[in-house]
Amino acid sequence: MNEKKTVNVGLIGFGTVGQGVVKILDRNLPLLESKFGGQLRLTWVCDKYSAPLRRAGVHRPRFTRRWEDVVRDPSVDVVVELIGGYEPARTIVLSALRSGKHVATANKALLAKYWSEVFETTRKTKSLIYFEASVGAGIPIIQSINEGLAANRIQAIYGILNGTTNYILTRMTQDGLDFAKALKEAQREGFAEADPSFDIEGTDAAHKVSVLASLASGTWVHLDDVHRQGIGNLDVWDVLFAQERLGYVTKLLGIIRFQDRLMEARVHPALIPSAHPFASVNREYNAVYVYGDAAGDIMFYGKGAGQMTAASAVVSDILFLARQIVSGTAGKIPYVSFHPSQRMKISPLSRSVCRHYLRFMTDDKPGVLSKITGILGQKGVSIEAVYQSFGSDRFSSRLPALSGRSGVPIVIVTHKAMHGAVQRALEKIDRLPVVRRKTIHLRIEEL
Ligand code: HSE
Repeated sequence: MNEKKTVNVGLIGFGTVGQGVVKILDRNLPLLESKFGGQLRLTWVCDKYSAPLRRAGVHRPRFTRRWEDVVRDPSVDVVVELIGGYEPARTIVLSALRSGKHVATANKALLAKYWSEVFETTRKTKSLIYFEASVGAGIPIIQSINEGLAANRIQAIYGILNGTTNYILTRMTQDGLDFAKALKEAQREGFAEADPSFDIEGTDAAHKVSVLASLASGTWVHLDDVHRQGIGNLDVWDVLFAQERLGYVTKLLGIIRFQDRLMEARVHPALIPSAHPFASVNREYNAVYVYGDAAGDIMFYGKGAGQMTAASAVVSDILFLARQIVSGTAGKIPYVSFHPSQRMKISPLSRSVCRHYLRFMTDDKPGVLSKITGILGQKGVSIEAVYQSFGSDRFSSRLPALSGRSGVPIVIVTHKAMHGAVQRALEKIDRLPVVRRKTIHLRIEEL
């Protein structure tokens, strides 16, 4: 008799995404099994808390609070790590790989920080780690770069990679909400990381940039190589002014560009033209643009955060692993290409060129503008436009008040200039006695 092989899955971390994984396994099991010709069994669920086990579905897995029970069970084929963060996730994943198990994870923080250790381990143990949910949740960007675009030299990747910040920026742009109110809403909707500072400060997006850049380059692009700036200091005044007067939408962007062995990898808020497709990527949606030397421009769009969209990617990983386990090919060839001895050379942000948006808060008296433009001129930064009058038309009445005590606003848009030159000018300008507070500086990215 030709008995179907069973693939046993142990799930570690039974929070929002873990419970979503169980929902899909329950809902689509016959479909999933038909796709790989074997049987799929959820045999363990591990979590700090036992209460959620009531939602563990039809599989009736065993429950434990000790991850070792799952990793040490010889019958487990696939360990699903969904606890996130650096530790104990790193220990769990490495132990599972060393025990000859294959791993599916959503953990971008772990990969960004320990890429080299993880993939060196899979090379030695001939085990696999799949990580589709680590970037863009349900958007199949990892498989696409790794398999679908394998023929290409990837030259650029741009992304709206964090659902929480994109939700916040959408509410600021469309409804004039201030940052704090919009953040509270995003948390209520359940998109934010356990520690929302990872979202707000751009760390979550930087983890994702590190993963995408490492995957695309076949080297390890360390998290520390990714320049990172979040949206915590953004003022709704600039978001609305840039949109209504200048035609730009504010987005938190991840940017990766390769040129020979030189690479730009960064995360920061930026103004993008309102006609750009990214400008209509709203709320928790993500978008990723990839330029491959043969395929040209490709764009991906979908929900980048949320229970079922992340669970979709995790279950797809389980399925791909199950296929290889059943056919006896799992681990015969590595999943990603990785050249540990090679490193990309980082091109610093200071050398990159774009137009810049600057908002000064100054005294309202003669000579202020000339002092500011004089310093910009000394540093070789040429001015494209100056806005100083914010009268009482319909739009201006929508602008939130900027406190009188902090001075009057002057907005300058520059021609293309080196980032470092603008920063050097601002260091000098912000020391002028007529300048009341640190100048707001946003890059204008034409993409
Ligand atoms: N907190 C993340 C986001 C979830 O908002 O995009 C997925 O990484």
